[in-house]
Amino acid sequence: PVQQNFMLCMSTQFKALTRNVQIIYSSDSPLYQPLLESSQQNPRWLNSTTLRPLLIITPFHESEIQAALICSRKNGLQVRVRSGGHDYEGLSYLSKTPFVIIDLINLRSIDVNLEDETAWVQSGATLGELYYAIAKGSKIHGFPAGICPSVGIGGHFSGGGFGTMLRKFGLATDNVIDAYLVDPNGKILDKKTMGEDLFWAIRGGGGGSFGIVLSWKIKLVRVPPIVTGFTVSKTLSQGASWIVHRWQYIVDQLPEDLFIRIIIQNVGSGNEKTVKASFNSLFLGRIDKLIPLMNERLPELSLQAQDCIEMGWIQSVMYFAGYQKDQPLELLLDRVTLYKSKFKAKSDFVKQPIPESGLKGIWERLLEEDQFVCMIMDPLGGKMNEIPESEAPFPHRKGNLYNIQYLVKWDKDGIEESNKHVRWIRMLYWYMRPYVSSSPRAAYVNYRDLDLGTNNRPGKTSFEEASVWGTKYFKDNFERLIQVKSKVDPDNFFRNEQSIPPLPALI
Ligand code: FDA
Repeated sequence: PVQQNFMLCMSTQFKALTRNVQIIYSSDSPLYQPLLESSQQNPRWLNSTTLRPLLIITPFHESEIQAALICSRKNGLQVRVRSGGHDYEGLSYLSKTPFVIIDLINLRSIDVNLEDETAWVQSGATLGELYYAIAKGSKIHGFPAGICPSVGIGGHFSGGGFGTMLRKFGLATDNVIDAYLVDPNGKILDKKTMGEDLFWAIRGGGGGSFGIVLSWKIKLVRVPPIVTGFTVSKTLSQGASWIVHRWQYIVDQLPEDLFIRIIIQNVGSGNEKTVKASFNSLFLGRIDKLIPLMNERLPELSLQAQDCIEMGWIQSVMYFAGYQKDQPLELLLDRVTLYKSKFKAKSDFVKQPIPESGLKGIWERLLEEDQFVCMIMDPLGGKMNEIPESEAPFPHRKGNLYNIQYLVKWDKDGIEESNKHVRWIRMLYWYMRPYVSSSPRAAYVNYRDLDLGTNNRPGKTSFEEASVWGTKYFKDNFERLIQVKSKVDPDNFFRNEQSIPPLPALI
């Protein structure tokens, strides 16, 4: 009956179904399952039967979103909004209470205006689609957001968003200048009408708390016509440990045109098993400037000109995404990610270099796992140091050397298999405690981790309970996020396991 009532509500009151275009899919529809799975990045929960949406709604127009919100509210249904489906814990497509998914797959237009160097991008677009659209118009413009092209704009911008140009231009949301949001009452607001606080909150306070962001106006950034990329890999026997150690002392102090991240993996098998560190870099300049800079700042890597590739900025996007730089740019439009698999991830911020003895313990633990595991260490500093902690909800700015993302992936199905790998990553996370930020031990909301704590008691979560995870993601900004939430969504319509709770819950 709830389903029928919902459909009736949609068709009678809001004319959403009169355009002869199907936008609502129930589990009877042959398209329901493919649609549900289409953008699910982490298929850990694929076979779960208890957490499936009653309906999937794929609006073409904002009025259909407004209608879906009002009909969900009327029928006591929760709403999960999905843009690219990359949420690490599946919060855009899973819920323990009856719910519908509003999937923004059909709302992904991108309008680039090179005259004023801005663009409007709808939330359902992917990063790859955005980069492609910019590159079609200009070879000297880009945008500083994440690396994987299939990531959705909606969730990514809602949590901050960082990639190879964060040291020069900050986060994706540091470059957002306007937005359209459907609020919990179905009203459409822009920057002016939503007010300063809400506009602040949606730029990094995490997806799924304040409403549905329809589109974002971004400031494009200027990039040189030629940039340089390199990837140099070293195993432990080739001195990886020492170079990683040295990297920590220079990485946040480098000129902001230079981004060097490290991807650390377990590789090989049996006696050949080892740890490999890949130094993966984007330099917003040419090889002749990069080589002397590297020789001065990180001579331990012995970077040679032949390790480097000069290319246009959009080719560097392809290069970082794992494509060859001369493959067709249209690959960026592929919404199916290259990396889809079951995984669990966690994150940390590092403020002091980890001693060599500490690194040794990490290598030992990486070698204990038989599945693919990696640690991605993304440098901070540069522009990130200039932006005050309170400027946006993402507070991990000055004083942080780099971010670590820990990741374990596996293929086999089954809860035991899943538990085994989750236990392993928790053990690694526990080991890292002395080497990373503390009080609070900080984490990045876009690397969603429900181990940090959840709203276990909807509507009753206390400030103390929510602060356990909230201050890790947002530090002191968490309080302001709660204030904003209390104003715009006091009855907590938009909620999930880690959404910002409203003030009445504090009682
Ligand atoms: P999804 O649709 O799952 O949404 C995530 C959350 O936001 C959910 O809670 C959802 O309800 C909410 N939401 C979605 N659309 C919304 C909207 N329009 N309005 C309000 N709320 C909305 N991060 C990074 O900073 N740099 C990187 O390089 C990468 N790389 C990367 C690679 C891969 C393979 C994965 C799986 C993830 C990343 N990420 C990342 C993390 C990524 O930024 C994060 O998972 C984003 O939240 C994903 O956004 P989606 O829209 O794809 O997710």
